[in-house]
Amino acid sequence: MGIDVTEPKPTLEPSLFDGHPRMRAIRSIIESIADTDTTVLIRGESGVGKDLVARAVHFASARGKGPFVKVNCAAIPQELLESELFGHEKGSFTGAHRRKPGQFEFANQGTIYLDEIGELPLALQAKLLHVLQDFQFSRVGGHAPIDVDARVIAATNRRLEEAMARGEFREDLYYRLNVVEIQVPPLRERREEIPALTAWFLNKFNAQYGRRKTLSPETLTLLAEHPWSGNIRELENMIRRMVVLADGERDFEAQAARFRPGRAAVAQPRQSVSESLREIARRGAREAERHALAEVLERVRWNRAEASRILKVSYKTLLNKIAECELTAPARRLS
Ligand SMILES: Nc1ncnc2c1ncn2[C@@H]1O[C@H](COP(=O)(O)OP(=O)(O)OP(=O)(O)O)[C@@H](O)[C@H]1O
Ligand SMILES: [Mg+2]
Repeated sequence: MGIDVTEPKPTLEPSLFDGHPRMRAIRSIIESIADTDTTVLIRGESGVGKDLVARAVHFASARGKGPFVKVNCAAIPQELLESELFGHEKGSFTGAHRRKPGQFEFANQGTIYLDEIGELPLALQAKLLHVLQDFQFSRVGGHAPIDVDARVIAATNRRLEEAMARGEFREDLYYRLNVVEIQVPPLRERREEIPALTAWFLNKFNAQYGRRKTLSPETLTLLAEHPWSGNIRELENMIRRMVVLADGERDFEAQAARFRPGRAAVAQPRQSVSESLREIARRGAREAERHALAEVLERVRWNRAEASRILKVSYKTLLNKIAECELTAPARRLS
């Protein structure tokens, strides 16, 4: 009597698969594998929406009513990862005071989403391969085999082929995971989606923070042209900032102007007239350096150790450069 039996709908953002032919192609892959249990490997740069695609695969499948369990292989210390994934028996290691089931067990009849699979240590890669082949595993310190009834979706933003060549990623696991590969394109390759995403985030944050912010046509143009190396996550955070901070829009315009092609040449002509060629070159180099630094830091979410690796400078040099370029970590970033 009056019971609502509507199926629970996944909360998919409206533009996820409609805004670009490559996203529509992803949707048709998801539809065609919906009634299978194939493993899926989702690839793409940080912030492109891999998690959302993983959820879409789950909800489109017969397992959609079951659990969706996400494990970020990079966020858990390597020595704890095995127990996190597969559970442990009481007393199997110091601190294992009681038996604990692993995430594979929690994902029973659902999907387990292994994010940042490229960070999985080699020993665990071997164990995962066995799980995918035998549909069984045992807990750490245990012997009884436990049946697995979970679909595995893995994601990575690393070039696994290079990791394989270096012997850091098992080739057999790679092929086992890569039965279906979904490559999520970076935002700069599907710019057509920027206006709809912008409108979506603007609405969302206006509602969330009780604001009525609108964006100027200039800002909209700059948003459409921006490189977005941090992809949709960067766009989302930028719009959140514009909604929340009084100067957010102006800050973005100033930042975006630095990315515009040809701008350095026309910038501040009055100053340039009296500048020597050497000064102009130095200023250009500084601008380029600042630009690269800002882009990489944004991409790695201000993980300075990672940024120093990418930019091939020492950690100390990186800190000096950040100070020199007067870049500040987004302590104001609200999430
Ligand atoms: N089409 C979309 N519509 C609205 N929001 C989106 C869309 N795609 C991604 N997002 C948002 O962008 C952010 C980043 O997406 P997500 O976490 O899925 O990226 P990711 O590829 O998994 O990144 P990482 O490699 O860093 O884990 C999330 O807040 C997500 O909600
Ligand atoms: Mg992710």
